[in-house]
Amino acid sequence: MAPRTQIFEDRPSDEAIAGFRAGMAPFWHPVMESAALTEAPSPVELLGRRLVLARFDGAVHVFPDTCAHFQAQLSLGKVVVVDGKPALQCPYHGWAFGADGRCARIPQLPEGRAIPAAADIPAFRAREAYGLIWVCLEAEATFDLPPFPEYDDDTFRKVRLAEPEDTATSSTRMIMGTLDDTHFPWVHEGILGDQDHPEPPDHEVWREGSQLVLRYEAEQPAGLFNGGAGNGSVKLLYTDYVGMPNVIRLVKDSPGGRYVIWLATCPLDWNRTRNFWIFARNYDMAPERDATFTEMAAHVRMQDKPIIESQRPWLLPPFWSKVELPIRPGDLPLIQYQKWLEELGIVTAI
Ligand code: FES
Repeated sequence: MAPRTQIFEDRPSDEAIAGFRAGMAPFWHPVMESAALTEAPSPVELLGRRLVLARFDGAVHVFPDTCAHFQAQLSLGKVVVVDGKPALQCPYHGWAFGADGRCARIPQLPEGRAIPAAADIPAFRAREAYGLIWVCLEAEATFDLPPFPEYDDDTFRKVRLAEPEDTATSSTRMIMGTLDDTHFPWVHEGILGDQDHPEPPDHEVWREGSQLVLRYEAEQPAGLFNGGAGNGSVKLLYTDYVGMPNVIRLVKDSPGGRYVIWLATCPLDWNRTRNFWIFARNYDMAPERDATFTEMAAHVRMQDKPIIESQRPWLLPPFWSKVELPIRPGDLPLIQYQKWLEELGIVTAI
């Protein structure tokens, strides 16, 4: 029998990439911190497309970052007023586009001639939530944004990373890596696990609306992320919520309190992911303690990064390909996540 190990250093097939881009399109994706978008238009990338964000008329507007005229980058332009309404003006020849993407002005057009419909550009949907700008590339999003109850709860202290972090992996592998708990003793020994006790916990996994929910008990070293300082070990209840397909909220309850890790991933493309992290805790609340938590969380992320970036193929392979060898019951949560991705048409080919 041929060995199962295969190497996939190259890019996935065109079919797999196209499936990933099309499958991920009808969801809300975080593209930028809300506070970072000021009056100046800003370029962002989503699923291999260059987009421009512009804030005017009290809302965020999203267009392709390419002018209909000679394809200059609209994010190099500025917001102007045309016939009393704000519009995004191209820096090259001054064409301007309104909130709906309709071309509102072509300065070179002879007087009396109508602006051709072909000069219009598409306008995508945008919204703001949890301090982020979210974009959906299709007219209707498959799911609404998942809840994040601690975000507006003043009994929790929230810390968000000042800058998003990029990883050289796919968004789905990033979520899967955050959902995976059987790696704790191996990658995070002494912080989240113990190699003398690598047995997987008993997982309960179910679907709840747009979320995959995972619950299990674990015993981990006492410490910052497990209810506060201390020695020995502590019993925890984990409840992980995956907002399909790209957001995860890990809730850790211990006798000392609740610690929440929230991650929203932006698929820049099939091999690059931008990660927006927010952490919440209801113990050890002094603001001056934030740096200690932030540094430890960064340490844990840096332990994960080389592992997640090493995984090939870049995109999760479909189950039928038999590339992976998940082991039940330990890998049950990952199996259920991947199964749902396949049902959503996000994982289609190798
Ligand atoms: Fe935009 Fe000419 S390229 S106006």
